[in-house]
Amino acid sequence: MALRISVIGTGYLGATHAACLAEFGFEVLGLDIDPDKIATLTAGRIPMYEPGLSELLLKHVAGHEGSSGRLRFTTSPQEAAEFGDVHFICVNTPQRKGEFAADMSYVDAAVDSIAPYLTRPALVVGKSTVPVGSASRLAERLAALAPVGEGAELAWNPEFLREGFAVGDTLHPDRIVVGTRSERAEELLREVYATPIAEGVPFVVTDFATAELVKAAANSFLATKISFINAMAEVCESAGADVTQLSKALSYDERIGGKFLNAGLGFGGGCLPKDIRAFMARAGELGADQALTFLREVDSINMRRRSRMVELAREQCGGGFLGRQVAVLGAAFKPNSDDIRDSPALNVAAQIQLQGAQVTVYDPKAMDNARKMFPSLAYADSPMEAAYGAHVVLHLTEWQEFRELDPAELGTVVAERRLLDGRNVLDGAAWRAAGWTYRAMGRPS
Ligand code: UDX
Repeated sequence: MALRISVIGTGYLGATHAACLAEFGFEVLGLDIDPDKIATLTAGRIPMYEPGLSELLLKHVAGHEGSSGRLRFTTSPQEAAEFGDVHFICVNTPQRKGEFAADMSYVDAAVDSIAPYLTRPALVVGKSTVPVGSASRLAERLAALAPVGEGAELAWNPEFLREGFAVGDTLHPDRIVVGTRSERAEELLREVYATPIAEGVPFVVTDFATAELVKAAANSFLATKISFINAMAEVCESAGADVTQLSKALSYDERIGGKFLNAGLGFGGGCLPKDIRAFMARAGELGADQALTFLREVDSINMRRRSRMVELAREQCGGGFLGRQVAVLGAAFKPNSDDIRDSPALNVAAQIQLQGAQVTVYDPKAMDNARKMFPSLAYADSPMEAAYGAHVVLHLTEWQEFRELDPAELGTVVAERRLLDGRNVLDGAAWRAAGWTYRAMGRPS
């Protein structure tokens, strides 16, 4: 009989994972403690913006015309525990307030919620990003709480999906990493991933600690790459060089490659910033903090980009923000997402407002989230409306919509034609030709 799968936590990761497993042909039950989220998903909608995900849900959520009916949602841990042969834990591990360390309370609660109902052999698979050592601890906790005892096994299977590409990344992963302690666990996971889609994808089987560390190392490497090129941008600014040309020239070296080498406002989001901090905190606990001191620098280079943008904006406003209007294009931490967690764009907008400017923000998808989190900023319904009367326009999240803006048209509504490109993707020559002062980060003015 085909495996039945439960997915615990139905945020970005869990909702996508559940829908993709249904697409692979499994019967799937998604569990969440939030009844509103469960009602939304059951209606075939998603509580965030993620391209392609609602289409996939409608294709599989039971009760919708023409759906496979393989995907259902519940708030009952007992139902999920009894339903699944394999249970994926997909809850988040945010940064703890006032600390670098990860908050493991949701992962712990997920294990605690289903364990008491595991009366037959089951495999619980962690996908959340956790401090190394968590899987070992959770394996003991699971076996102690489950009536089936050691029959409730644990495995660790980190997830590498990117927001905005969550469905594509899940259907076509570039590798599958599993940390296991038994052949049975490995076999079950091979069965889950033995789909045509995962065919030919490297399947790395390792121990718990290595599996957990692969994720921390991958995100640290990506963050380091971005901060490296942003450090080069700082030097370029002092030397009068152009970081975009530098980055392009570097990218032809296959050992370096061009991905994650776009200089600008730096990284944000719910993953990279908190993951490198949690990694440093954990290394400290393990007595290996010296190994990761460079990540402190990666973090500070990244935060410096935000202050640099504020400084550039102040310069463009004539040295002070009082009485000045600033238009901010972009609120999401990156394009194709409505996620504003640790968004560089909103951080800059808020800093500038604190320093006395009147700031108006526009984003194609993240306005509702931005309004809730930053109610004191002003919001506009279009780039034109945001730019109305502005002394400087800041391009802070590189949505396609902003690349398609007509500089001449936008120029008719601003007080001054001054543009700061925080993502180095706009066509500077076209903006200059339309009479704008165009400045980007890490490039000559
Ligand atoms: C990241 C990892 O890529 C993913 O593998 C992991 O599972 C979760 O964390 P995500 O947070 O969705 O994914 O965003 P990503 O596309 O990696 O971008 C992160 C940030 O880096 C964004 O703010 C983006 O604007 C910034 N970035 C990215 C740069 O500033 N320059 C680049 O060259 C690339």
